[in-house]
Amino acid sequence: MSRHFLDLTEFDGDELRHILDGAKRIKSTRNGVRRGEGPLAGKVLAMVFEQPSTRTRISFDVGMRELGGEALMLTGAEMQLGRGETIADTARVLSRFVDGIMIRILSHDDLNELAEYATVPVINGLTKLSHPCQIMADVMTFEEHRGQIAGRKIAWTGDSNNVLASWIHAAPKFDFELRIATPGELAPPQELIEQARAAGGSIVVTDDPYEAVKGTDCVVTDCWVSMGDEDEATRHNLLKSYQVNSRLMQEAKSDALFMHCLPAHRDEEVTSEIMDGPNSVVFDGAENRLHAQKGILAWCFGAI
Ligand code: CP
Ligand code: NVA
Repeated sequence: MSRHFLDLTEFDGDELRHILDGAKRIKSTRNGVRRGEGPLAGKVLAMVFEQPSTRTRISFDVGMRELGGEALMLTGAEMQLGRGETIADTARVLSRFVDGIMIRILSHDDLNELAEYATVPVINGLTKLSHPCQIMADVMTFEEHRGQIAGRKIAWTGDSNNVLASWIHAAPKFDFELRIATPGELAPPQELIEQARAAGGSIVVTDDPYEAVKGTDCVVTDCWVSMGDEDEATRHNLLKSYQVNSRLMQEAKSDALFMHCLPAHRDEEVTSEIMDGPNSVVFDGAENRLHAQKGILAWCFGAI
């Protein structure tokens, strides 16, 4: 069985903790490793992008190199995938050439189909439904700055999207309380909330950003228009009172962190004052994509 990394729901908390511990170990020895050496020497990762990326693309590429392996950058449009070759056949063919596949594709069903037909590990590099690599990096970042996330309160304000879904998946795994504020029209699916609660997650959902943020250890947001979303003007209208600004941050603990997966739209979902402020860890979070994913890669390839 290949070790896929598709969604946080497929792991128990101990397994995710094992991957993060591996990531921290690899991060701490980063300067001692020479390129071309390392646990993934000789391994090749195919990176397939149906949508644009800065962080995911570069962090997986550099992560493979730093672990001794190599990465191939492929875009769906340049592959026969863009001309109708099936996901299943693409999975079968790529599995003959490479040791692992990381894919960013809007359809979560396509991701699952790729994993079903691939005989090598498949990693979810973002779908319309989830972004698990991002939240592994976010948990790592929170813990580097504030210690154990277990028992802490994390607030989300804004749109309900793929990044929020992976935060919801993470809540029962890492034992933190997640307090979500979205407009009613954009609320997360009830089923997603119920599944997380059934798994032991403490999740609060409201349409009031001040209620969600009150007394929390960290405030998180994301863009108002995600890849594949339509109705840009309607979303902006619905979401403008969910902006993270100094008035909203005052409701959180005085040392509350601010996180954003990036790219950010300054002065839309977050003011520059908060993005560039003393409690913002957005660039540490971006860097930790590299380290968290090295843990994920090492796990997928059986090196930890
Ligand atoms: N946060 C994130 O996944 O960024 P990219 O879209 O640049 O990969
Ligand atoms: N929610 C955003 C995340 C980008 C990294 C999107 O899907 O576009």
